[in-house]
Parts: sequence; C-alpha cells; structure tokens
Amino acid sequence: EKGGYDYFMLKEIAEQPKAVADTLLGRIDGSGSLTLDEVRIPPGVLREIDKVVIVACGTAFHAGMIAKYAIEHWTRLPCEVELASEFRYRDPILDAQTLVIAISQSGETMDTLMALRHAREQGSKVLAICNTNGSTIPRESDAVLYTHAGPEVAVASTKAFLTQLVACYLVALYLGQVRGTKWGDEIRAVIRDLSSIAGAVDQVLVTMEPVRELARTLASKKTVLFLGRHVGYPVALEGALKLKELAYMHAEGFAAGELKHGPIALIEEDLPVVVVVPSPRGRSVLHDKIVSNIQEIRARGARTIVIAEEGDEAVVPYADHLVRIPATPTLLQPLVATVPLQVFACELATARGNEVDQPRNLAKSVTVE
Ligand code: F6R
Repeated sequence: EKGGYDYFMLKEIAEQPKAVADTLLGRIDGSGSLTLDEVRIPPGVLREIDKVVIVACGTAFHAGMIAKYAIEHWTRLPCEVELASEFRYRDPILDAQTLVIAISQSGETMDTLMALRHAREQGSKVLAICNTNGSTIPRESDAVLYTHAGPEVAVASTKAFLTQLVACYLVALYLGQVRGTKWGDEIRAVIRDLSSIAGAVDQVLVTMEPVRELARTLASKKTVLFLGRHVGYPVALEGALKLKELAYMHAEGFAAGELKHGPIALIEEDLPVVVVVPSPRGRSVLHDKIVSNIQEIRARGARTIVIAEEGDEAVVPYADHLVRIPATPTLLQPLVATVPLQVFACELATARGNEVDQPRNLAKSVTVE
C-alpha cells in the first residue's frame, strides 16, 4: 500500500501534484470563475462579513498564516490567524459579521473543534477546510470546503498542507469574486495560474535529488535555521516544524527582517540556514532585502541553502547550495517552495535512522486538548 515507496511520507510527497489538481477539480468553471457551491454560506451573507478569523494548529496553522496574505490582499477584509489552542482563552472579539475558517486535515483536532464551537456560540459563521469526509469539524461547521488530498497516513502532514493552501486561495479568491474588489483582473489571472500549478509542483519533485544528497551531509548537525519573508515566512516555519517532528533536530523559522533584532546572534561557522527567497518580480523590495540578509549571514559563516525562483541570478554568489523552484505569482509560491523542505526533513530523518512515518511522541490526530 506504500506503492513502492519506503515510507508513506515519500508516497504522499509524490502525490502532491495530483492532490493539488484534485482539490481544484470542478471548482473553476469554463469561464474561469470559481464555483464553490459547496460553501453554502449565501453570497449575501459573505458580502456582509467585516472580518475573517482563521483557527488551526501546527501545519494547518501555517496554511492559515499564508491564507491571511491572500485574503487581505484580494478581499481587503482584515484577517487574523490564531492558534486554535489559544483562541477561546483570550475572549476573542466575534460576532455575526465574522467569518471563522477552521483548517484541519483530520477534522478531529480537539483544539480546533473547541475554537469553532466557541465562535459559533458568539454567532459567527464557520467554514471548515478539511480533508476527512464526515469528520467532526465539518459536521459542526456551517459549511465545508473539502481538500481532496486523499488519505494522509504519515504523521507529518505534506499533501494535506498543499491542498489546504489551495483551498485557502480558493476561499480568498471566491470572497474577492463575491464581494467585488479592484483586483478583479488579478483574481482572474490567478485563477488561471492555479490551473497550471500542479505542473509546477511536479517540476519541483523531479529535481529533488541534490536536496536529498545535501540532507544526508547534514545528518550530524544540531541546529538548522529557516528564514523567509511575506508568504515565505510561514513556509520557513513549516520547514522548521517538519525538521523538529521528523529529524528531532533543533530548528527554528524566522521572518528574515527580524534577524537583526536578535536571531543573527545565533549565526556561527557552518550553521545551516535555509532561506526562502521571494520572487524578484513580485515584491522586489523584499527580494532585495533578503539577498542582503543572505550576504549578512554568510559573512558570519552560515552555510546558506537558498531556495529561489528560476532565473533569479542575484542570489547565486551567496548560495552555498541553490535549490531552484519554478516562477509563480508571489502569493502562490508556498505551493512550490514547501516541497524541498519536506524532502529535506524526510531525508534527514532517514539519515538519522528515525522512523519517518511514526515520529516519536506524536499522533496523527490530536483528540485531546
Ligand atoms: C505537522 C502535523 C500537525 C498537524 C496538527 C493539526 O506535520 O501533522 O502539526 O498539522 O496537529 O492537525 P489537523 O490538521 O488534523 O487538525
């Protein structure tokens, strides 16, 4: 049932292009508009929403962080993202004009379930983004947008994460479409770009051998840092989480702009630092800033592992290891940038002799608070 792979995780990483395509299937009509009829919250209600709040845990929380960028950009609605485990304990401000989005692969995570129950008690509408048909979270929500990743067996989430991102983009674009924003043309263009994104994920997968080789050489390291900006920041957090879970290594993700406010003190000779570089075409200011960050940390001895778009030549002189990803619109980059980090963590775990599919101390679905 592992389909020829040594681990479910490898199989699930390889299934990502299909999972992404399946999650888009039937949701874009012939004219290039979104048809999310499943989101049974009437468009009239969605037009009255004045705030979006996302609740989730772990990897799903990272998907939520990326969704915030997309939702705020395309809808101009304020969007908060909160760890589900913290949410109800701080008396959050919720009302009937708040749309709460609960993201969960399993649909059984107790923290997320308690957060959505709290939101519904305050009169908010809850939309679940979930991978498991008929699970508790979608049953208790007002509406559900299912991700179509198929069953995810490995404890560490991979294909479910990519499909959560797709679902989040769909919701953001749909809200933009329903509410009407000045980004109408961009929204139509991004819907077109999404249709070809599975191919881009596939393109990354076939170039992963150097990442595996690199991971094997780092098996005796104690720490790996991850840096990113904008939507690359949650990608960095996700890369660090995967490494903790699977390789049992100390790993931390930082927003690259925060380096100078503290973390740069951690940089020492030969410390591996993975940097997710924003597109030089999109928010080019951020691209240039991160290139300076790479220079700064390398000058202090860091071993730089740079994930950058094809054609980005500015990073070349400062990259000890360069991992190329296909060019995508800025907001969609996490769909391709996350893949090398999954492969990296999986290979490092294997090199350290760890059980990849069943990391110690972890369970696939966390049904206790
Ligand atoms: C990370 C991982 C966990 C889950 C988290 C939420 O690889 O698997 O962090 O993402 O426990 O689980 P769901 O999405 O089932 O609510």
